Amino acid sequence: MSNRIRNAALRSKVMSAEEAVQFVKHGDKVGMSGFTGAAYPKAMPTAIANHAIDAHARGDQYQIDLFTGASTAPDCDGVLAGANALRFRAPYQSDPVMRNAINAGDIMYQDVHLSHSARQITDDFYGRLDVAIVEATAITEDGHIIPSSGVGNNVEYLDNAEKIIIEVNSWQSEDLEGMADIYRIPPGRGRGPIPITESGQRIGTTYIDIDVSKVVAIIETDLPDRNAPFKPIDEVSQAIAGNFLDFLEGEVRAGRLTYDGYVMQSGVGNVPNAVMAGLLDSKFTNIQAYTEVIQDGMVDLIDAGKMSVASATSFSLSPEYAEKMNAEAARYREYIITRPLQVSNHPEVIRRVGLIATNGMIEADLYGNVNSTNVSGSRIMNGIGGSGDFTRNAWISSFITPSVAKDGAISAIVPFASHIDHTEHDVMVVISEYGYADLRGLAPRDRSRKMIEVAHPDYRPLLEEYVALAEAPGRPLHTPHDLEQAFSFHQRLAKTGTMLK
Ligand code: COA
Repeated sequence: MSNRIRNAALRSKVMSAEEAVQFVKHGDKVGMSGFTGAAYPKAMPTAIANHAIDAHARGDQYQIDLFTGASTAPDCDGVLAGANALRFRAPYQSDPVMRNAINAGDIMYQDVHLSHSARQITDDFYGRLDVAIVEATAITEDGHIIPSSGVGNNVEYLDNAEKIIIEVNSWQSEDLEGMADIYRIPPGRGRGPIPITESGQRIGTTYIDIDVSKVVAIIETDLPDRNAPFKPIDEVSQAIAGNFLDFLEGEVRAGRLTYDGYVMQSGVGNVPNAVMAGLLDSKFTNIQAYTEVIQDGMVDLIDAGKMSVASATSFSLSPEYAEKMNAEAARYREYIITRPLQVSNHPEVIRRVGLIATNGMIEADLYGNVNSTNVSGSRIMNGIGGSGDFTRNAWISSFITPSVAKDGAISAIVPFASHIDHTEHDVMVVISEYGYADLRGLAPRDRSRKMIEVAHPDYRPLLEEYVALAEAPGRPLHTPHDLEQAFSFHQRLAKTGTMLK
């Protein structure tokens, strides 16, 4: 470990997570590293969870407020939620145990645009941050932190917390050093532009400089990142990927895109990952990503010589691909840049690089409003993540989805979205296994016709029936709705278990 903890003073702070938990008090606001199942602290969450269980057994109160980059893994969000150790959680999660606790009302959750989250912390919207717990791949001679498999909000948490705990994880490749590009966006008004015009530009340092005097503990770990494997690519995902490519080809035919240099953003999830696999056999080359996470599909595109650069804030790799990344980090760092979340998701840069955003969704309505977060309007799935940052600011925004969920009981196209994360003003193209609805340049009534074309055939007559009702003589025809029936699909699902009649 001495080659990983290269600062002698910090080496003297090495202790176990069980000892370090003394620095995390009841009521503390804690900023942790972690973005999907990557780069989260591997030891402290379990130590905090056990501390909470012991405190509760004694009849003492013990809960913290937890902030991260985004979701983490079962041995972070899962153990903390399971131990009832959290009062509040932001800005994103995707853990089943935590999701249940939030939906049961046991954890308060604020689902925030990820590009906003760091600034809201540094400006004390949540109060002062007490502790930062951050995973590193190494600590330099000067006490600088070399980020591990993601950067997320680490810079802001380290800058703002009163105490710092660093986990140095020897499972993470030392060759990750050089991949990160750390740039601080100055606070306040009137700042200059972020100097990125192309995905591949480096504008900062490869390390995070910290106030070493704030470090109270260093913990040594040797544990893997834990992302779930992606679901195997099935016929539906393949058809969606094919329709996505048709849409891209249409842009080429229209003279708006060339086969050389398409800039992509790809959201989290199985379907976006499948779409990237579809690009492998396409005519597109020199693909560039200005995105939030590096997924398996991007690694394949790099290996195939199709992707020239990928800028993101973190990895989100299956176990197999995480091992591959670890083994070949020196090669991949020629292609991959990991940035602070504020930079990877910044609206200013997203607009400038002119990307096509592609994200998953829960449902979309006839007019193109998209729900990414709340099932039947009330039950949180994961969160908005970066989908709002990219969708609102993309050159072209697209959503990809199977036409039905839960074996056909749920239609992804509904009369009125039961929760709206992306409004009709932001959503340009919706793609299912039945084709793509190009909503650009269309008024709401024309949009509804296009949306029905990408719905599952079983649901098309029901959607047409709704449109006929909504457009009945005497109704306002700009955004036609029948408010009594607008949620009829969701009501039927709640009563009968299916949106079908
Ligand atoms: N109602 C109920 N459940 C639904 C649903 C709906 N309308 N649509 C999807 N689901 C369920 C699926 O059944 C599946 O459940 P399972 O895991 O129990 O099988 C789960 O959601 C995931 O759906 P899947 O079809 O595999 O798609 P995905 O993995 O691409 O995820 C989202 C889709 C919407 C959950 C995911 O894209 C997401 O969380 N998006 C918001 C954040 C985001 O876009 N971030 C981008 C960052 S840049």
